[in-house]
Amino acid sequence: KKAVWLDCDPGHDDAFAIILAAYHPSLELIGISTIDGNQTLDKTTKNAYTVAYIAGLPTTIPIIRGCNEPLCRDIITGGEIHGETGLGDIDIPEHPEYQSSINDYDENYLWNIYKKIRDVGRLVTLIAIGPLTNVALLLKVFPQIKKFLSEIVIMGGSIGMGNATPSAEFNLLNDPDAAHIVFSSPHVPRLVMVPLEVTHTVFATKQVRDRLRSIVSPFSTTLDYLLHYFATAYKDVYQFDFPPLHDPCAVAYVANKDLFEEQLMHVDIERTGGYCLGRTICDVFDMQRKEKNCFVVMKIKKVEQFWDMMLEAIEQADKR
Ligand code: BDR
Ligand code: CA
Repeated sequence: KKAVWLDCDPGHDDAFAIILAAYHPSLELIGISTIDGNQTLDKTTKNAYTVAYIAGLPTTIPIIRGCNEPLCRDIITGGEIHGETGLGDIDIPEHPEYQSSINDYDENYLWNIYKKIRDVGRLVTLIAIGPLTNVALLLKVFPQIKKFLSEIVIMGGSIGMGNATPSAEFNLLNDPDAAHIVFSSPHVPRLVMVPLEVTHTVFATKQVRDRLRSIVSPFSTTLDYLLHYFATAYKDVYQFDFPPLHDPCAVAYVANKDLFEEQLMHVDIERTGGYCLGRTICDVFDMQRKEKNCFVVMKIKKVEQFWDMMLEAIEQADKR
């Protein structure tokens, strides 16, 4: 099994990514860290605990509260899509450990994440599905972490379109300076970016919702409700018929690379502001002849196979 660490900002699609990382048969989720993004850090951390609780994750999987703001800019939250709580308006039980673990600021959070990854005993894949602040700090403060990582896979960025501005994807816009650190960090083992162009082909369609509802349980009902909230928000904000499930695509990539097409290229992050702040500048045609620093996922070959994988993970979570 591949050891994976998930850095996230739950978040509707993050919730599904946690489930896939915890229950895909070829992955072993060794820890979760949280970051502000879809909501403030208090809320995303609370949501990580909630998802872990309702999905039955063993309490041996640590949930570490990470950095609470971008490196040098104001916080942007995704309330328009993910609601005031970050998980819609759904009434789901709180993890019993939540109150005791969350309220204190953990001044050693970076060290604690680093130490867990270092001590796994085999290479770890770091999957980042929120703003890249924690990842950038880890690379700066503990550069030796690179020895313990096989890959950093991020959901974020885009080749062309934006979803937070016309030119930038939400996670990248949120902390472009952190993204710059990650994309320009020397000797990062293998950096992979799953951009919007790919995640915008993975829709939670009516057929998908029907399949989810055929797993009759309180857990699947909750997940279906999350998708309902997400669908309504995507309809209102982007006029999409169905919502794209971004974050689990990064987990699916780690679980089964054969399902994806990728291209190695040079990627820079725009940090100067103006219209293009947070944009990922993907040199698809190698026009600059710069070092190719990122595998950009170009396509998911069979979307149905993604959904088979996602629904199997949900079934596994349900059976535990
Ligand atoms: C990304 O932004 C967040 O709202 C989602 O959770 C995902 O990580 C998509 O742009
Ligand atoms: Ca996310």
